[in-house]
Amino acid sequence: MVARGKGILAADESSGTIKKRFDAINVESTEDNRRDYRETLFRTREAMENSISGVILFDETIRQKAKDGTPLVKLIQDAGSIPGIKVDKGAKDLAGAPGEKVTEGLDGLRERLAEYYELGARFAKWRAVIDIAGNDIPSGYCIATNVHALARYAALCQEANIVPIVEPEVLMDGDHDIDRCYDVTEYTLKSLFDELYAQDVALEGTILKPNMVISGKKCPTQASTAEIAEKTVKCFRETVPAALPGIVFLSGGQSDEEATANLNAMNAGHADELPWALSFSYGRALQAAPQKAWAGKAENEPAAQAAFAHRAKMNSLATLGEWSS
Ligand code: 13P
Repeated sequence: MVARGKGILAADESSGTIKKRFDAINVESTEDNRRDYRETLFRTREAMENSISGVILFDETIRQKAKDGTPLVKLIQDAGSIPGIKVDKGAKDLAGAPGEKVTEGLDGLRERLAEYYELGARFAKWRAVIDIAGNDIPSGYCIATNVHALARYAALCQEANIVPIVEPEVLMDGDHDIDRCYDVTEYTLKSLFDELYAQDVALEGTILKPNMVISGKKCPTQASTAEIAEKTVKCFRETVPAALPGIVFLSGGQSDEEATANLNAMNAGHADELPWALSFSYGRALQAAPQKAWAGKAENEPAAQAAFAHRAKMNSLATLGEWSS
């Protein structure tokens, strides 16, 4: 999953999220359209073989077949990439905590993991959402309940021989500055690793998918690439044990190029400070360009594949610290 020069394609948009993405390109979100679009990505041999170590799928996709009847999972495997599965059931309102969320999906998870293993999944993802765009949030209660659920999920994955990706996402929505993001990310990661320890999760078989330490989208002073790289690496060195094999970032609403530039700055400027592989698990930052190029038309598939291959290659270079704009 964190092989040199490779990262993960997050193609696990839930039905609601993929509808939003398709609305933006005027494509109806039907089962066939979702299949056609994702098939186009998974058939991009150049990207899949050289830059993409694994693909996170949604429940519908792991069961789908390509137009010629080949399971989509097989397309991924044949390209030498690993199929993974999103297993959480989404962030729901946290009782008694206005504006905060807790991620659900633990009930029946052991049985679902066994089925996903049979379907070919070898890793999984669970996303917790920490919103900090308000005066009194996040609460300690929100972080404690979310990291507790992340650790329960991770322990169940390891029991099922599935590698857990633990994703505590501190959102970049809001006008907070980078230091506020730093503080909340630091607290969240410390809490997460305490809880993984308490629940006996093996860090050697766990991957972290965090946000970068970054300014809120509406913050009037936006931190530079160099500051983002420096503060993100510092924050992780303070909180993430060296036993963890890898950290794969979410893009979280950064532009395609920002997500690449920030990752590159960490790997280029801080290489000797990193005990873990630092790579990507991007959704939007890998897919915005191919979605736009595709626009729901079969004749645009080569253009969509070229756009995907380009972003995958740029991010691959960023994992090596070799990207330039
Ligand atoms: P983004 O890169 O679009 O944030 O998506 C990654 C992801 O999987 C969020 O859970």
